[in-house]
Amino acid sequence: METSPSPTLSGKARKAGVLGWPVAHSRSPRLHGWWLARHGIDGAYLPLPVRPERFATAVRALADLGFAGANVTIPHKEAAYALCDVVDQVAKRAGSVNTLVFDADGRIHGTSTDGYGFLESIREQAPGWAAADGPAVILGAGGAVRAVAAALLDAGCPRLILVNRTPARAEALARDLGGPVEVATAAPLEAASLLVNGTSLGMVGEPPLEIDLAPLPATAVVADMVYVPLETPLLAAARARGLRGVDGLGMLLHQARPGFREWFGVEPKVDQALRDYVAHDIPRR
Ligand SMILES: NC(=O)c1ccc[n+]([C@@H]2O[C@H](COP(=O)([O-])OP(=O)(O)OC[C@H]3O[C@@H](n4cnc5c(N)ncnc54)[C@H](OP(=O)(O)O)[C@@H]3O)[C@@H](O)[C@H]2O)c1
Repeated sequence: METSPSPTLSGKARKAGVLGWPVAHSRSPRLHGWWLARHGIDGAYLPLPVRPERFATAVRALADLGFAGANVTIPHKEAAYALCDVVDQVAKRAGSVNTLVFDADGRIHGTSTDGYGFLESIREQAPGWAAADGPAVILGAGGAVRAVAAALLDAGCPRLILVNRTPARAEALARDLGGPVEVATAAPLEAASLLVNGTSLGMVGEPPLEIDLAPLPATAVVADMVYVPLETPLLAAARARGLRGVDGLGMLLHQARPGFREWFGVEPKVDQALRDYVAHDIPRR
């Protein structure tokens, strides 16, 4: 059953939001609104459309207005990183931030929670899988892959293979990451414990990802970052082969948890009711 965000706010209401341009497509207000209602919190989470040239001014204004913090989405993630007074190790590895927290002195703290959200989503949807189990093959080398690859290495992944349409971008990422990272032109699936789609292929309106999953070991997990549709052609092929699949919606939901905890003081949960609520307009296939 659907609930709607709390209709009343006091003068002490906690405030956060998502900065993007455009931001109308963002599901974050619906997601945080669900948790605010679920926990009866005196607070609000708003869509905040901000043009790139106004980004720095807007962020400082939010701090002045008493916001607890904000999420940052396309195209501001790198600009947000540059603007922060304090960034953690995860943000440094990702070179971008998606979560801002303003402290009592007005300083801006930044972190990147995409990698955390990705790993938490696998833990939820493919219990028992561990990053240390074996090599991971990642398709793509964009911003999201940067965060996820760093998180996999930090979680003990013994070997990471990057495959990207533009190999130079994958090579630059491999150099930045350091550690056991290789670049390949074709995905070596025979020994992989994890295959990740970090491209936009398979998204509604894009061509499907063409890859033969037959060489993957039977224990491998297939994770797609794309969440529109919920079950991409890649995940359907994984299911048909009897492999465990992890959808992109889980990553989206879990990456939001650290910010909510910081701003509103409650550890929120991801459950089926939340998934259904956020996915209300996302096609299943
Ligand atoms: N579930 C979540 O919470 C979540 C969060 C963030 C992102 N995502 C998804 O993750 C994906 C990547 O996002 P991003 O922010 O990293 O984007 P990005 O920085 O623009 O990177 C896009 C990646 O997709 C590749 N690509 C695009 N079109 C392609 C094509 N026709 N054939 C082969 N490769 C193609 C690009 O290759 P080139 O380098 O050759 O251009 C690049 O590696 C998107 O699908 C996005 O929706 C999901």
